[in-house]
Amino acid sequence: MAIILPDLPYAYDALEPYIDEETMHLHHDKHHNTYVTNVNTALEKHPEIGEDLEKLLADVESIPADIRQAVINNGGGHLNHALFWELMTPAETSPSAELAADIEATFGSFEDFKAAFTAAATTRFGSGWAWLVVNKEGKLEVTSTANQDTPISEGKTPILGLDVWEHAYYVKYRNLRPNYIQAFFSVINWKKVDELYAAAK
Ligand SMILES: [Fe+2]
Repeated sequence: MAIILPDLPYAYDALEPYIDEETMHLHHDKHHNTYVTNVNTALEKHPEIGEDLEKLLADVESIPADIRQAVINNGGGHLNHALFWELMTPAETSPSAELAADIEATFGSFEDFKAAFTAAATTRFGSGWAWLVVNKEGKLEVTSTANQDTPISEGKTPILGLDVWEHAYYVKYRNLRPNYIQAFFSVINWKKVDELYAAAK
């Protein structure tokens, strides 16, 4: 067994004009594929630890030292991207009544949540991700991580994530990360977010 690159759950051009087809090809076929290849290379050195990346990344100290950073980078890269593809859709969706109410209770309003998420995505210096997570207390929280670090390693369950590496937006948006963040809100798959929220609570 090895970790396999999952297919996109929609066509490469399905998220146009918000996320362009060329970016989706490069991002999925090249970048994500490289994480898959590299995490498999690392895991092959230690077959005894298995391939359950969520479990391994929830306790990074459990990963043998000689492959630890490779698994954090490439295993995280695989998990983050596999989730990211599912968190987008060309369909129009909106949060469930329960999630919408909890977002309002936590952040004040949906617009306040959007502002907090946008700020996390905008101010993440260099490469990384912005997240909406369920934290250890079972509460919603906006956060961000560097590189391919996953909130799972902090004991948090990601339910929405945005890749803010330049490879995610530079083809279409050039240096304008804020425009890409704004566009992302037009393609969020709230049905998937609802599912993850229900499972995390
Ligand atoms: Fe990416």
